[in-house]
Amino acid sequence: MRLPNKVAVITGASSGMGQATAVLFAQEGAKVAVVDIDKKAGQTTVDMVKQKGQKALLVPTDVTDSSQVISMVEQVMSEFGKIDILVTSAGIWRQGTILDTDEKLWDAIMNLNLRGMFLCCKYCIPEMIKGGGGSIVNISSECGIVTWKNQIAYNVSKAAVISLTKSIAIDFASQNIRANTVCPGTTETPMPLNWLKKQPNPEELRRGIEEIRPANRLGQPEEIAYGILYLASDESPYATGAVLSIDGGATVK
Ligand SMILES: NC(=O)c1ccc[n+]([C@@H]2O[C@H](COP(=O)([O-])OP(=O)(O)OC[C@H]3O[C@@H](n4cnc5c(N)ncnc54)[C@H](O)[C@@H]3O)[C@@H](O)[C@H]2O)c1
Repeated sequence: MRLPNKVAVITGASSGMGQATAVLFAQEGAKVAVVDIDKKAGQTTVDMVKQKGQKALLVPTDVTDSSQVISMVEQVMSEFGKIDILVTSAGIWRQGTILDTDEKLWDAIMNLNLRGMFLCCKYCIPEMIKGGGGSIVNISSECGIVTWKNQIAYNVSKAAVISLTKSIAIDFASQNIRANTVCPGTTETPMPLNWLKKQPNPEELRRGIEEIRPANRLGQPEEIAYGILYLASDESPYATGAVLSIDGGATVK
């Protein structure tokens, strides 16, 4: 077991990579706080964690709302008594150039992809310090490293996540807090799959997304979860401020 007796807070845990991470972490011995705005799907994750023999706490939370994030941290502390790991996977993806991204869309993307992460880190770090340290894994994207066409707000939010995480790594290394970023490539979760379904030519679009990467396929949520596990666990004590790409090679060129 790689996470014996650890307590992990995972945002976006109702779906996709967050859910896969919650299940893997439970398998590796962690108690999991399932933090998501989607309460119903969150219950499914809780059931999956329990099937692995671990404790789970469902904390329905809108991570863009500081009062809800503060309450979430209080609930986790009350139930589990500590926070060892924070994984921030809650996020949205929307398209648009600067001309067709209105202020409302810009704010919605920045609020969730960046401010939500800022708030969760801000309110978990003091509890980690009290407990002697912790490990934060923030989820960016291949679009945080290279720039994809027609998604300016998403690209900017994901590039900023890398800087947010490195800033935390520098500021809190002396207090035994590590902060690392995982940058997934397009992965088979509801986020891209629901969008593809609505396109007139989903198969052709999917092939295009596959072909731009040497692996020539999309990722699986579990493949991202294993990278998150490495950075979250005590097996990576020297890794902080790192940016781990798991993208089938999309960003090597
Ligand atoms: N799937 C991909 O291809 C891909 C690629 C690169 C990066 N990412 C990033 O990985 C992360 C996870 O993506 P995914 O594919 O698992 O997405 P997903 O859509 O499957 O899951 C996202 C989760 O975030 C939750 N959420 C949305 N708004 C919230 C809010 N205000 N407060 C709390 N929770 C909220 C949703 O309910 C959902 O459970 C995201 O940050 C995404 O940008 C995804």
